[in-house]
Amino acid sequence: KQYEYIILSRPAPGVGLVTLNRPKALNALCTPLFKELNEALVDLDADDEIGAVVLTGSNRAFAAGADIKEMKDKTYADVYKNRFLENWSEMTALSKPVIAAVSGYALGGGCELALMCDIILASPTAVFGQPEINLGVIPGGGGTQRLARAIGKSRTMELTLTGRNFSAAEAASWGMVSRVVEEGEGKVVEEAVSMAGVIASKGRLAVQAGKEAVNAAYELTLEEGLKTERRIFHGLFATHDQKEGMSAFAEKRKPTWKHS
Ligand code: HXC
Repeated sequence: KQYEYIILSRPAPGVGLVTLNRPKALNALCTPLFKELNEALVDLDADDEIGAVVLTGSNRAFAAGADIKEMKDKTYADVYKNRFLENWSEMTALSKPVIAAVSGYALGGGCELALMCDIILASPTAVFGQPEINLGVIPGGGGTQRLARAIGKSRTMELTLTGRNFSAAEAASWGMVSRVVEEGEGKVVEEAVSMAGVIASKGRLAVQAGKEAVNAAYELTLEEGLKTERRIFHGLFATHDQKEGMSAFAEKRKPTWKHS
């Protein structure tokens, strides 16, 4: 498949890398870019060779937001009728983990895109923010909801209502990103690829189950969530990989996953 706005590669066994590639607009997320991104992610999710995916931008910008020039003349009728941005969350239905490697600007929709990923690693140069208030709107790609769940009400309210940017260090101290990866061009992508490689080396069914169970924590009550976790855990006893993983431990050898 030929893409205009993204680059696809396989930098390590089991790892798919999607690089946003609209450098002149700082990876502003225009409709055709998001369409390509969704297509690529669905393909990688369905690919048996792939165990985990990394999503990144450039050193200067992960993504500077939704495309403001594309949005500016839209009417209420346009956005309501065409369900503007609804397709953005398609990627949250993927079963394989997606790791965001963020350098530079991750503003507005760019910050929201990172928040839709399962794990976020940030370079010290990362600049996050929900500046929509400065454009006369509010976040529309999940910013108010996912950010509030990630970093709490007071901070989310402050960021949404003032529109101020926040740093990688702040994002890390608030628990929005896993960690800040030391300075150096492209280091955060290397680290994300290496983490994806580790995940891809595990049994795929257990990884899928782990992602599903953690995500349940964001949808369900504690009681329902614990029940869901246990059900999924029980289900894994029907897999070859559970027998293999536990036998290998008892026999003091490395497991060979069959992903079945
Ligand atoms: C369209 C954008 C863009 C965007 C940057 N560009 N961000 N185009 N939509 N979100 C374009 C600029 O117009 C410019 O094009 C080129 O990219 C380079 O940007 P500059 O502004 O010249 O670069 P710089 O001076 O370094 O400033 C970088 C910046 C600034 C601080 C990131 O570009 C900026 O403030 N961008 C907008 C950030 C923002 O408000 N994001 C939220 C968008 S709203 P030309 O043609 O002039 O070279 C949003 C809504 C979400 O995301 C709701 C649902 C998801």
